[in-house]
Amino acid sequence: MIIEDYMPKVGDNGTQELLLSCLKSNPKTLPSVFFYDHHGSELYEEITRLDEYYPPKIEIPLLRSTARKLKSELKDCDIVELGSGDCSKISVLLDEVPEKIRRTIVYYPVDVSKNAIEKSACNLQEKYPEMGIHGITADFLKHIEKIPGDRKRFFCFFGSTIGNLSEEKAIEFMGNLGKEMNENDRLLLGMDMVKDIDVLEKAYNDSKGVTAEFNKNILIVTNNHLGTNFNPDDFEHVAFFNKEYSRIEMHLRAKKDLEVSSPLLNEAIRVKKGETIHTENSHKYTVEGIRKMADAAGLSVAQIFSDDKRWFSLVEMVKK
Ligand code: AVJ
Repeated sequence: MIIEDYMPKVGDNGTQELLLSCLKSNPKTLPSVFFYDHHGSELYEEITRLDEYYPPKIEIPLLRSTARKLKSELKDCDIVELGSGDCSKISVLLDEVPEKIRRTIVYYPVDVSKNAIEKSACNLQEKYPEMGIHGITADFLKHIEKIPGDRKRFFCFFGSTIGNLSEEKAIEFMGNLGKEMNENDRLLLGMDMVKDIDVLEKAYNDSKGVTAEFNKNILIVTNNHLGTNFNPDDFEHVAFFNKEYSRIEMHLRAKKDLEVSSPLLNEAIRVKKGETIHTENSHKYTVEGIRKMADAAGLSVAQIFSDDKRWFSLVEMVKK
């Protein structure tokens, strides 16, 4: 088992500049990749267990049935999972693959969280001793070229994490991946579908307030990077479906006028009462939209696997 680390460290200049420019922009934003420090990753795992948060409840059985259909394609493959988290999803897939095939697979979990990679790669190696594992901590939007390409690759990107990207960025990402892909390579993309607004909004406004805590944790991560004095209690969690952009938006709304200081700043950043910091977009797709995006990225849709209600899709794509 090998683990490589490409993530920026706390105190990294590029990260600080990025965060500062996001906080100085109008409207203020914070990039959703900063949700996932140790605590944030734990909170996200808690979200996935909430009743209201439907995506994993549909995606996991869908993964199981899809794996049964695709398992023979996985022989002698490098499975590269982008945003592998706790590796629970790939386990669902691998459980459907015969040991004889698993023996020929090398699994590359790629995630921003070093903690998640280390813990999950170890657990996975215990579960599947016959399979090669090569963990990579990286931001796959930037480090896509770190992933070796001498064998057939099966790229997985589950959980509708692609939904965090704007349509433009998602196409750019898929396009870059498409350029990296060889003819035989496959991409299996989890995409959350447009559905009843009430269902969508409840999934991001859970009754236990875990999503609110997850949202506010981005301020603690920001404090750790910038030495700022954000107090999460000064903000309230806001999440709603923006129909025009077909996405759930998460924001943090200031409960009062604030001055945020940092040793890296000459002047405090002012946040007015009622002002919001935009922390996340989670796009929801239609079949037509998926085909258009794939086409724009130089990929073509081979198959779409979906549940009966069509709440979630696993989309298999190939190079055009
Ligand atoms: C991990 C990006 C798929 O957008 O649904 C969950 C993150 N944010 N609740 C999503 C999230 C709030 C999640 N993704």
